[in-house]
Amino acid sequence: MIQTVHVPLPGRAYDVRIGPDLLARAGAEIAPHLARPRVAVVTDAHVADLHLPALERALSAEGIASVSLTLPAGEATKSWPHFTRCVEWLLDQQVERRDVVIALGGGVIGDLVGFAAAVLRRGVRFVQVPTSLLAQVDSSVGGKTGINAPQGKNLIGAFHQPALVLADISVLQSLTDRDFLAGMGEVVKYGLLGDERFFEWQERHAEDLKTRDPGALGHAVRRSVEMKADIVLRDETEQGDRALLNLGHTFCHALEAATGYSNRLLHGEGVAIGCTLAFDLSAQLGLCAQEDPSRLRALLAQTGMAASVGDIDGDLPDAQTLLDLMKQDKKVVDGKLTFILARAIGEAFMTSDVPQDAVEQLLEDALAARSLSSC
Ligand code: GLY
Repeated sequence: MIQTVHVPLPGRAYDVRIGPDLLARAGAEIAPHLARPRVAVVTDAHVADLHLPALERALSAEGIASVSLTLPAGEATKSWPHFTRCVEWLLDQQVERRDVVIALGGGVIGDLVGFAAAVLRRGVRFVQVPTSLLAQVDSSVGGKTGINAPQGKNLIGAFHQPALVLADISVLQSLTDRDFLAGMGEVVKYGLLGDERFFEWQERHAEDLKTRDPGALGHAVRRSVEMKADIVLRDETEQGDRALLNLGHTFCHALEAATGYSNRLLHGEGVAIGCTLAFDLSAQLGLCAQEDPSRLRALLAQTGMAASVGDIDGDLPDAQTLLDLMKQDKKVVDGKLTFILARAIGEAFMTSDVPQDAVEQLLEDALAARSLSSC
């Protein structure tokens, strides 16, 4: 069954279509958005092998001609050289102002192609066809686009909403366990930040989620997208509520920087670990019940997700260095760190009023528990 989440942003409303085998219907889904039957597709080498032929077949079945550019897979692609290549290729293909560009891939391709679409001829429309769980539940929705700078991640970009998102849950079966579970970190985040009933549903369906049952996946993606759409509607450009989507991210960004943005820690793994640290901190500050972090850890363990810094291989710096890395975060205002903490599961809030000592102690305890478990 195909489900639709409508994102009614004034003047740039769009649908997120979620369901099995959507790739095979992509031509019919995209056709109503086209001024002429021709699209440019940008993807990466890994996704091209798995899914580009199916997309091309679906487009051609509806009489839509397509050209495609395949970029290298991986985070390093989210950079000026590949961005320039993408924009110049789109110009070479004579993509016009009224044309549509398709981003077929995970978060890297979605962010880069969305940014290319935002600047090409001062803005062309684009369709997101997210192929990772993380991209389906988070990065393909909400219009954040961009690339990384040598100074940090996602520092160059624009808000540019897609014209359509096609989240084919069947393609999630082709993900490795590690990539799939990393995406689940973002799904768990939605329950934690604003919907206790969704968290409880995940507790009840942990096994179905782990085994990628299509019914469970459809519900998890739809509810996550509904929550994201609701937040984006309230605060498209992150002046307030949208920051709630960063639950776990202050810790996550420090851990990602400490592990060199490498395969040692995938973003979604860092989010799951960051969420446990945010709940530990909330419990230690007396903001939420002591049981809440344990309940979160139990869910992460049930599905096999990363849950603590002990799950990260190799050396990590000390607590003070991690704290310094947290201060590089783009959410630092006047030198004060902003945290998303929680009063309960499903009740996150933003605060800059967190004693630095408490954060340092939390990190020291987490690192000490890690060395004990590796002894
Ligand atoms: N990924 C966080 C946001 O879209 O705001």
